Amino acid sequence: MKNLNAVILAAGEGTRMKSNCPKILHKLGSKPMLGHVMDNVQAGGIKNIFVITGYKSSMVETYVGKKAKCLQQKKLLGTADAVWQLKNEAILKKKDAKILVIYGDTPLISAQTIQDLLKTHESKKAGCTLLTVKIKDPTGYGRIVRNGAGKIIKIVEENDADVYQKAIEEINVGLYVFNVLELFEAIKRIKPNNKKKEYYLTDVIEQMRKKNLAINSVETIDQDEILGVNSRVGLVRAYEIWRLRIVENIINQGVTIVDPKTTYIDENVKIGKDTVVYPFTVIEKDVVIGEDCTIGPFCRIRAGCKVADDVSLGNFVELNRSEVGSHTRIKHQSYIGDTKVSQKVNVGAGTIVANYDGKNKNKTIIDTGAFIGTGTILVAPVKVGKQAMTGAGAVVTKNKNVPDKAIVVGVPAKILKKVKKVKGKR
Ligand code: UD1
Ligand code: CA
Repeated sequence: MKNLNAVILAAGEGTRMKSNCPKILHKLGSKPMLGHVMDNVQAGGIKNIFVITGYKSSMVETYVGKKAKCLQQKKLLGTADAVWQLKNEAILKKKDAKILVIYGDTPLISAQTIQDLLKTHESKKAGCTLLTVKIKDPTGYGRIVRNGAGKIIKIVEENDADVYQKAIEEINVGLYVFNVLELFEAIKRIKPNNKKKEYYLTDVIEQMRKKNLAINSVETIDQDEILGVNSRVGLVRAYEIWRLRIVENIINQGVTIVDPKTTYIDENVKIGKDTVVYPFTVIEKDVVIGEDCTIGPFCRIRAGCKVADDVSLGNFVELNRSEVGSHTRIKHQSYIGDTKVSQKVNVGAGTIVANYDGKNKNKTIIDTGAFIGTGTILVAPVKVGKQAMTGAGAVVTKNKNVPDKAIVVGVPAKILKKVKKVKGKR
């Protein structure tokens, strides 16, 4: 679609969150709700995006950065007034300019749904095309009022609805495409004649009907994606839906997730086939895990870590800014930070990499085939050489690299001898 833009309304305080942080900056996974909305709009194919800020606008602007143009709504007079902040934007003055309006508190609306709505708007002539859904409990949402012929005539907000309107199950999701010229004309005619004394964007529908402009709708059947987050409980519900979507996607790629309910996987995680993830495991964003691994239970893999094929990471193992090579075992109670662990390494129970000296985070290397004894502490920066071994409870101190095939023991660790035969099967 030509001359297509989007605006995300994000000026509200979100009082029901009871927070010092603006509602739309509360996170789903590692990303604020607003980030989800921006990414979904972009993935829906829209490049030119505006964000309307208001409450703590500088915080929101900092987050948005260069991804979108922020405009400040000085007084929060309602959703129509929020959109009205766009009135002086030159790009929207083009004759056939179109705009997608979405709220910053609907983080689950997918790129696919956005594309479907845009397609419908393009194919049928209308002043507005909007997304609706029928839900059993429509409490809190604007109701879609249709006439006898089934045409949308207006939207009534919960506060202003009578008992009959309250019983309507078809609700306004808060996703619309407008022809900008017609939208601006309609906003000018809106009055704050409602309980909240706000300028409601939803009143644009009635105004457009008065000018005989058609209102089209797309009905989604996905009851989950339309969720508007208005409270912390709402945020938890949205997170749950989003998280299970991610987990299902990963399962569909050939991964066994034993218990999706207790497995927390963030976005952009890749896991190879036939890997098994046991319960109570947290895998943060951008992590890559190979095939045939076993992960968890109770394992935490922090953002960006890389795990190769056939690796076993057991209970209470935390990986942080680290890489683990293939066929390596780290099975019990270990912290591995800023470390490159090579292939065929065995890391004994309770091994800790002391990567932080109070000032800097230092690097550790555990080279191919090394055998780290139970309860070893590796004080970074340090390297354990190929096929080297550390004895139980050894403290390998800073820069005291363990040569290839050496055995070190004690506190501080000292070389005992060179390894003749490598321990273990591998
Ligand atoms: C809104 C819709 C409702 C719909 C629901 C879907 C209106 C009047 N109502 O209700 O029909 O069913 O969303 O989730 O639009 N905002 C501003 N400036 C303002 C006021 C709000 O930017 O002056 C922003 C908020 O930050 C929020 C969004 O607009 O992100 C929606 O506002 P909110 O107060 O949450 O509207 P709802 O009552 O949920
Ligand atoms: Ca809302």
